[in-house]
Amino acid sequence: MGGFLSTNCVTASGQAALAPDAPPLPQAKEFSFTATDFERVRALIHERAGIALGQGKQEMVYSRLSRRLRVLGLQSFDAYLTELQRYNDGPEWEQFTNALTTNLTSFFREEHHFPVLAAHARSGCGPLKLWCNASSTGEEPYSIAMTLCEAFDSLHPPVSILATDIDTRVLAEAAQGVYAMDRIADLSEARCKRFFLRGKGDSSGKVRVRPELRELIDFQPLNLLAAQWAVKGPLDAIFCRNVMIYFDKPTQRRILERFAPLLKPDALLFSGHSENVSFVTDLFKLQGKTVYRVRDAAMAARSLSC
Ligand SMILES: C[S@@+](CC[C@H](N)C(=O)[O-])C[C@H]1O[C@@H](n2cnc3c(N)ncnc32)[C@H](O)[C@@H]1O
Repeated sequence: MGGFLSTNCVTASGQAALAPDAPPLPQAKEFSFTATDFERVRALIHERAGIALGQGKQEMVYSRLSRRLRVLGLQSFDAYLTELQRYNDGPEWEQFTNALTTNLTSFFREEHHFPVLAAHARSGCGPLKLWCNASSTGEEPYSIAMTLCEAFDSLHPPVSILATDIDTRVLAEAAQGVYAMDRIADLSEARCKRFFLRGKGDSSGKVRVRPELRELIDFQPLNLLAAQWAVKGPLDAIFCRNVMIYFDKPTQRRILERFAPLLKPDALLFSGHSENVSFVTDLFKLQGKTVYRVRDAAMAARSLSC
């Protein structure tokens, strides 16, 4: 039987574009995969999720979607894509999208953001509401939750965090809050002890976030491209990190314009290290390294009414 124990210290255990209708790509062995199929995949994932797949991603697309062809017993990408497109809202769309997202993340990634968040939390009054979108397997919202527990010196801080992602598979992992021990190898002993339980039996080699941390976070599926977002403002902060890089500039702009009216006038927007918000829209002004504030609350309100 597996289980999770309180722990004092958790240590580490440890191409060029092809013309449509070109012959199958050389790497396609098990299934037929033409340049036309690849272009179809690119167009479909761009339309669904905003993800702009580069021309060099054929191998990645082949290997990730081959698993779906195997599961469905299909022989070619053409058959798979035709089946996928048969129903606009069919269940395979979720699998297709999940297969093509890139979910790289880690606890306290881009660490400089977290002291800024802690200072912001301490400077305000009343409960805090945050939205962490593109939250992947959960390391990011749990890092936010840990930071706020520390800022309020309580495992029950007055905080609610909405964590969303388009990928339902990573969301399910995030909601479980179970990680291989080496994922927390870089965390301080104090954080390991305060926020994680160590697995035993079947769960040995794993850690689980403490229930108090888990209870601060509501995990929900959300596509940043969707016409409606089930997100209620006013928010004290939005974390939108390392997802805009997959979108083209007009998509980035549309999303940022929709963030502004959700934020309180003094709220913070945290972006990823290679994502320059002010270059995309002048709605936000730079506050610190990849941290922004809404430039003008009135402007944000006007954009809300549009
Ligand atoms: C590289 S991870 C970034 C994770 C985390 N924000 C971080 O910085 O560590 C990008 C995440 O964006 C999600 N994503 C991609 N397209 C999306 C969309 N249209 N709407 C919401 N999430 C999306 C992916 O599923 C993936 O989990």
